[in-house]
Amino acid sequence: MGIEDIPRTIWWEDGKVYLVDQSRLPLQGDLLACNTYEGLCHAIRGMAVRGAPALGVAAALGVALWATTEGASIDDTAEFLSALDRVADEIAGTRPTAVNLAWGAERMKRFAHAHADVELERLREMILQEALDVRAEDEKRNRMIGANGAALLGPGSRVLTHCNAGSLATAYYGTALGVIFSAYEQGKIEGVWVDETRPVLQGARLTAWELKLAGIPFKLIADNVAASIMRAGLVDAVIVGADRIAANGDVANKIGTYGLAVLCKEHGIPFYVAAPTSTVDLTLRSGDEIVIEQRDPREVTGLTVTGIIEPDTPAVSRAFDTLTAAGPYDLPLQKGHQLQIDRKGAAYRFDGWFRVAPPNVEVHNPAFDVTPADYVTAIITERGVARKPYGDALAVACDGSGAIHEL
Ligand code: MRU
Repeated sequence: MGIEDIPRTIWWEDGKVYLVDQSRLPLQGDLLACNTYEGLCHAIRGMAVRGAPALGVAAALGVALWATTEGASIDDTAEFLSALDRVADEIAGTRPTAVNLAWGAERMKRFAHAHADVELERLREMILQEALDVRAEDEKRNRMIGANGAALLGPGSRVLTHCNAGSLATAYYGTALGVIFSAYEQGKIEGVWVDETRPVLQGARLTAWELKLAGIPFKLIADNVAASIMRAGLVDAVIVGADRIAANGDVANKIGTYGLAVLCKEHGIPFYVAAPTSTVDLTLRSGDEIVIEQRDPREVTGLTVTGIIEPDTPAVSRAFDTLTAAGPYDLPLQKGHQLQIDRKGAAYRFDGWFRVAPPNVEVHNPAFDVTPADYVTAIITERGVARKPYGDALAVACDGSGAIHEL
């Protein structure tokens, strides 16, 4: 049991992009093989791959996938580059809030245009190598974030985290969880409070799964528990990831993050954000300019269920075989509930959605919120730890001209 037991999130193999389907973890651990960039876009929208840094890697690999498949039949450089731009923009447009998606796509565009004089076949190989570099660099950056953040924690720390900013949300290792992994190795973590993170439950499904594999003690809590454990003196720090950080240090992250930051201020608890500099968007002056993704109302009006049925008697197997003989079987259910059963090897997979709210209710379902910079104790990046006022430190870190100095 250890961090090395956490599977890689996304990788390139046999000319395809492979990813662990996070929409079904941990009850099902399917691998998805994308052989077209459109398939990868579908996986991003359905959150099979999610988390800002992992989305940056997905965008880069998606462009490389196009360049080496559909784009491989184009033999005119100008035509190839303009098609590549369109593909990169389409990938970047799949989800609006995590800037890493656009960052990964833009990096690939810039790279391709900068090497426009290279013969096309060679250029396609170089594009693939650039995408593989994006993936490798992400892991390196996360380990640096982990080390920088661990230095901020004292021995016996009880840390609360929200959503999943773990290995699954990156190429490997994680940002907020990377800090926790690193601090745990240094013997500084007594335990972790894991917010379930309604409505998609990234905390309950993914962070809890990663911490369990890593062997780190944790307790899963409903999101609304945080205030009372803070008041009881059971939380020493909150560490979260970020989807986009504006030039002034305002942070967009999973919905519910802002509430935690406000609670931290009230209880005198440090509120740390751990993110690579690729998450900083210097084109936005403040968080007011960040576009917040609105998601499907059904995430709130019902519960999604998934799992594997392994029949324990031949009679039950025969019944499921009959149901699924002609492919996935939709059980006829009342009140809009849905349940589909499908064959999966010697077992059967079920995927469903069960309504909990009355039909036809109006829903407000933002996937992210913005925490004003004033509530953020420090922003932990691979280049160092920035403190208020964030403007200069973030600008210096992002233009690559130097490390952030701990202020
Ligand atoms: O909707 P998701 O699951 O993609 O949201 C993920 C988050 O909000 C994470 O906290 C953020 O991307 C940082 S991941 C290192």
